[in-house]
Amino acid sequence: MERTLILIKPDGVARGLVGQIVARIEAKGYAIDALDLRSATAAELAAHYAEHEGKPFYQPLVDFMSEGPIVSIIASGQGVIPGFRSLAGATDPTAAAPGTIRGDLGRDWGEKVQKNLVHGSDSTESAEREIGIWYPAEG
Ligand code: TYD
Ligand code: MG
Repeated sequence: MERTLILIKPDGVARGLVGQIVARIEAKGYAIDALDLRSATAAELAAHYAEHEGKPFYQPLVDFMSEGPIVSIIASGQGVIPGFRSLAGATDPTAAAPGTIRGDLGRDWGEKVQKNLVHGSDSTESAEREIGIWYPAEG
């Protein structure tokens, strides 16, 4: 079964949106196969965002992701990888369409890094790689 790795970022946890975000995933019909709330380690974040290393937003992004606990989720279902990306909406919450997690629940908070509530894997390869980072026993 197709699987994806979802993160509810520190802004989503701090704002008390975990329940609403998980509810949207479930309401769409995807299964929650694993779910864990805890702070990310520096090593996990470095591995997770390796593709962005060297970009101007990399260090602010990693610092933001270290600000507080996050929720990591493995969700499954046919088409869940693009399906969750659609649910999440565009990267920039100001541009994200209403009806999406980022469009309905996110906004511009006037900071350098986009606090955009969630991460979702962007391909089968990314999903399997990221599941291995956050859930080594499932990788
Ligand atoms: P990216 O993988 O391009 O976006 P997505 O989360 O939609 O797959 O970027 C990873 C995260 O980096 C993104 O969620 C927010 C942050 N980011 C910025 O802060 N500034 C930027 O210009 C970009 C492209 C991303
Ligand atoms: Mg991405």
